[in-house]
Amino acid sequence: MRRDTILAQAGARRDPATGAISPHICPSAAFQHPGLGQSTGFDYSRTGNPTRQALEQTLARLEGAAGAAAFGSGLAAVDAVMRLFRPGDAIVVTEDMYGGTFRLFERFGRTMGLDFRYVDTTDAGAVAEGLAAPQARGLFVEIPTNPLLKVADLAGLAALAREREALLVVDNTFLTAAALRPLDFGADISLYSATKYLGGHNDLIAGAVVSRTRELADRIAYIQNAAGAILGPFESWLLLRSLKTLPLRLARHEANALAVARFLEGHPRVSNLRYPGLPSDPGHEALKRQSGVFGGVISFELESPGAVERLLASVRVFLFAESLGATESLVTYPLVQTHADIDPAIRERIGLTDRLVRLSIGLEDPADLVDDLDAALRA
Ligand SMILES: Cc1ncc(COP(=O)(O)O)c(C=O)c1O
Repeated sequence: MRRDTILAQAGARRDPATGAISPHICPSAAFQHPGLGQSTGFDYSRTGNPTRQALEQTLARLEGAAGAAAFGSGLAAVDAVMRLFRPGDAIVVTEDMYGGTFRLFERFGRTMGLDFRYVDTTDAGAVAEGLAAPQARGLFVEIPTNPLLKVADLAGLAALAREREALLVVDNTFLTAAALRPLDFGADISLYSATKYLGGHNDLIAGAVVSRTRELADRIAYIQNAAGAILGPFESWLLLRSLKTLPLRLARHEANALAVARFLEGHPRVSNLRYPGLPSDPGHEALKRQSGVFGGVISFELESPGAVERLLASVRVFLFAESLGATESLVTYPLVQTHADIDPAIRERIGLTDRLVRLSIGLEDPADLVDDLDAALRA
């Protein structure tokens, strides 16, 4: 089946007994054994749960992957991937990245004996240099990056990673597999904060790891069971429900984002506008070639931190909150919210300033979004 069919029928045809189209929410913690040495396939819900399995199988099918594992948050998914590495290993990481991932790597990855080297992953030379270190075993990339929306060349990065036998992990939260399938470009793992577009409604926290090979999928499943950061059955069901409309939502997020970006482009109070859907954006061609979908996140700068504060206080349709990818449009101040934990030296190097604003464009009428920003920028 093709992408939209897999998504529209997510979780269906799983219950021959009743013919239920919507999968059951199965809250059972434990499962009765028919006899000694026998199992229904389910023993204990940390190890495997029917509702979570329906979700995991849908996510794996969507990417043509060997397996997928659902976690209690995007960061739990990153944490599980981090546990694939051994003390002494080094991982080359996108320097412009979600602040919580940076905090996890620096505060906990380092205590596990891992080393992280932050580079501009749109610069193949910088990535090759990072991977040249004898301890380099991994390459961790966001596409596009959060919050500056830079677009790496995944096939190029996969070739570099393969040369060094390093694992390529792609955080595909901003686009999702409905728009771009990292494994098709040679990635080993695609990873999600499913809290964002996969969930899409600002009503659940979830994460997922999708693995190209059976061996990797088994190792991640082992970590999922052994460390226990699983997604619960109700959230698994909610996520399955959300997946059914993912392509429709993505299309509207993008159409709305383009309308907002066009309004902001050339606005006298806006500078360093980043939206890969604009033909003038540095990431446009690279994303057009790899996906053709540009997503719903925009970032830009105002003239001062005071101007950012006034914008946050003046919006009436946008909500001032720290997330993205849902029906409601949100405005975020990365420096003090999502990216407060990024090393100040890195923030300065990449241009994550105290004037930077990030917008997540929702599914509202685009004219209301433009009117709201127009009024707030005048305030
Ligand atoms: C790109 C990216 N990866 C991972 C995460 C972490 O996900 P969660 O908040 O679901 O733990 C986020 C959260 O904002 C994110 O933006």
